[in-house]
Order: sequence, then structure tokens, then C-alpha cells
Amino acid sequence: MKNILVVYGSPRADSGSAALARALLEPKPADAAVTEYHAYRLNARPCLGCGGCDRKAGCVQHDLDQFYSDFEAADYVVFASPVYNGGFPAPLKAILDRFQCYYALRFAHGVRPPIKKHRRAALVMTGGCEAEGSEHMAQTLRQQFTVLNAELVAAVTVTGTDRRALSEPDFARAREAGAALFGEKGENKNA
Ligand SMILES: Cc1cc2nc3c(=O)[nH]c(=O)nc-3n(C[C@H](O)[C@H](O)[C@H](O)COP(=O)(O)O)c2cc1C
Repeated sequence: MKNILVVYGSPRADSGSAALARALLEPKPADAAVTEYHAYRLNARPCLGCGGCDRKAGCVQHDLDQFYSDFEAADYVVFASPVYNGGFPAPLKAILDRFQCYYALRFAHGVRPPIKKHRRAALVMTGGCEAEGSEHMAQTLRQQFTVLNAELVAAVTVTGTDRRALSEPDFARAREAGAALFGEKGENKNA
């Protein structure tokens, strides 16, 4: 059985990025177990930059212990996020910064790879206007994933959401990204 971890970055109940993530998940394996986190509910404490994880493996803060465990167990990871001022909303950015303990595992403690399981990932983003910064957001994940034993196989950006409702072509793009994520080879064309 495969484990899918989904991280939602929007605070909104009728989130468009979450709706697109649900479309992306449609092609998932029938027996997959899905674990969902909402960044605003998880409310991760920001990284303190204290260097504690360099001195001793693991984060000195323990609010993400269960999240780390689910992240390490995931075969597939999906991030769904609005673009906020050219980047990830603060609570999701806090989670990404908290991956610092895996960098420390790799580079201060020499654990290679710091996460044993290789995992495939997808990112779906919504922007009210032009979603400027979305490519940087995807690049941030790609760069982090080189250490996290993960591979971004699809990234979808849907723009203009403050001017129009999401439509079938948007959901079709999300489903296509899901097919690339869950397919054997992955198409990589959106990444
Ligand atoms: C604080 C804030 C900052 C935003 N910054 C941007 C931005 O830089 N570029 C953009 O295209 N849209 C921006 N938006 C619009 C959102 O990205 C857009 O409404 C998005 O579709 C919301 O996604 P959601 O429905 O998943 O919450 C911003 C919205 C908020 C509330």
C-alpha cells in the first residue's frame, strides 16, 4: 500500500488550490492511504536557526514530530498552495524551513540519504493575478528535494483566480499532473 501526504497551504474553506489538489489526487492508486495536513491548522513554529539540529539529530522543537514521521513514510507528496506575495503563505513556509533538520542530518551528521524512502512529489499553485513567483516556489521545492530524497515530477500553476472561477481545463491540468505523479514513469513535462 502506498502512502500519500498532502499539505494544503490555503487558509480558506473554499480554497481553489485545495480543489485542484483533489483533482490531482483522482488518479491515485485505489488502495493508497492519504494523510492530510492544513498548514494553517498545523501552525508549525518557525525554524529558530539555533543550530540545535547540527549538534544533535532532530529538531529541538517537537510540534512537527508526527508530521516528520508522516513525511518520511510518504511515497507521494502533494503540496497545494496559493501564491502569497510571490511565495508560499507563511505557515507553509514555516514547514519548509523546518526541513532544515534533514539538511543537518545529511551535512552535519553524514546520514545519506537523511530520508530512506524515495518519494515523488507534485505542487499545485493558484494565483489571483499572474502568480508571479510560482516558478521560484517550484524551484524552492526542487532544491529542498535534492536533500529530502524526493523528486518534483509535476508543478501546475493556475492564474487569474481572483477574476474567474476555476474551470474544467484547470482541473484537467491538475488531473494530468496526478497521472504523471502516480504513473510509473511520470511525464515530468510540468516540472
Ligand atoms: C496575502 C495575499 C497575498 C497574495 N499575493 C498574490 C500574489 O503575489 N500573486 C498573485 O497572483 N495572487 C496573490 N494573491 C491571490 C491568491 O493567490 C489567490 O486568491 C489564490 O487563488 C488563493 O488560493 P486559494 O483559493 O487556494 O486560497 C494573494 C492573496 C492574499 C490573501
